[in-house]
Amino acid sequence: MKGIEREPLPGFRDFEPADCAQRNFIFNQWRSVAHTFGYEEFDGPIVEPLDLFTQKSGPEIVEQLFSFQDKGERAIALRPEMTPSLVRMVGKRLATLKRPTKWFNITEQFRYERPQKGRLRSFYQFNADIIGESSSAADAELIALAIATFQKFGLKKEHFHVRLSDRQLWVLWLKVFGVNQEQEVGVLLGILDKWERRSPESIQEDLKTVFKDDTKAVLFFGATELLRKARTLDAIRECFHNCQPSSDMEALDQRLSEFKVLLQELESLSVRDWVTLDLTIVRGLAYYTGFVFEVFESGDQGRALAGGGRYDHLFEKLVGQPMPAVGFAAGDVTLTDLLRKQTLLRPYQSSVDYYVVFEQTERQQALLLAQQLRAAGFSVLYSLDLQKDLGKQQKKAYTDASHYVITLTHELTSKGTVQIKDVKSGIEQVVELKSLPEYLQQ
Ligand code: HAM
Repeated sequence: MKGIEREPLPGFRDFEPADCAQRNFIFNQWRSVAHTFGYEEFDGPIVEPLDLFTQKSGPEIVEQLFSFQDKGERAIALRPEMTPSLVRMVGKRLATLKRPTKWFNITEQFRYERPQKGRLRSFYQFNADIIGESSSAADAELIALAIATFQKFGLKKEHFHVRLSDRQLWVLWLKVFGVNQEQEVGVLLGILDKWERRSPESIQEDLKTVFKDDTKAVLFFGATELLRKARTLDAIRECFHNCQPSSDMEALDQRLSEFKVLLQELESLSVRDWVTLDLTIVRGLAYYTGFVFEVFESGDQGRALAGGGRYDHLFEKLVGQPMPAVGFAAGDVTLTDLLRKQTLLRPYQSSVDYYVVFEQTERQQALLLAQQLRAAGFSVLYSLDLQKDLGKQQKKAYTDASHYVITLTHELTSKGTVQIKDVKSGIEQVVELKSLPEYLQQ
């Protein structure tokens, strides 16, 4: 008879104890860094109303939604990201919100993507967001937090870097080419986001459709290729200068000076060396309005390790009240791949503090001792086989990687004693049973 399918659904993972230990290790590091930056942990529901995501996450995420109807005929979706839920939650208490509010969260997300290296249908994210602060000091501190989360695992400058960009500069760039309408801006930002994954011919085809003017589309393509290569603020300014009259440079210079402040702040936080100015980063999600960034493994192979940016209009669009916000999320899948590659994950070994072995006549006393030790906070195992003799129990105690083996025989307990063996050193001691918990605490 054919049994059930033993593998999880495509893009989902089973977490056996070794995988769980690894996952917990990652979560603990994330949590501990977030606390050092003064973030508070929050959580929310795994399912949300479908329209929370269809309204503002952008078409890419909408295509990837796990959505269905519940028994109350509500259209709902498994969360593909945390940001809309965060905005919904914080949106309930904007009037009394502490400013800035710094919240973090570690949760499972679901996206119906084609499973591949670095991409699954279920993955965990560490999200950190600052709500209620519009200054670029918030963007800078958040980038420093993103960097610290990777440093916490022992990753160094040669292993990863941050690519920092700015949606506002892109919006100004589109203005130079006469694009002002929100819908066209959205379409062009989408094209810019996928630029490096596509052939020049197919990009130009799309540009011709948007601009409805072949010459302009070709001009835009060439100039944008140059802007994408700019790696300093001066180089960016030059690209603009070559395409627009100097009288229109005011808005650009204002933005470049804000960019300078951000870079200075990163310098003061001692993380500037991790950051490359790189306008090729646009971000797939629709709601970003300002500085955006992604973290990549050095060499830029593979999928991003993290990504985020400023989203100052999302509160207004979702809950009707303006509120500046900036945030990012790091994923566990690409991080685990990188940590494994750099051998920064410790091998898993299951172990317990004590294994209690006994002659079956002493079972009652042995179990009482096991419970006392557990109540004192030690991990304790004993054989659940009611027949197993002492020799077999001892063998099992050693294979189960116990740190100490406590033996109860009739001969020992009749004298009010037990024997303790330190498995590593092999040293054995006979100890009085009644003073055992205190003895072990020492
Ligand atoms: P995101 O760029 O869509 O941003 O995702 C952030 C990170 O989650 C990615 O860099 C990647 O490491 C991981 N990730 C995304 N999709 C997958 C997948 N299918 N499989 C494995 N890992 C994945 C956001 O989600 C924004 N909500 C971040 C944010 C927070 N922006 C502001 N606040």
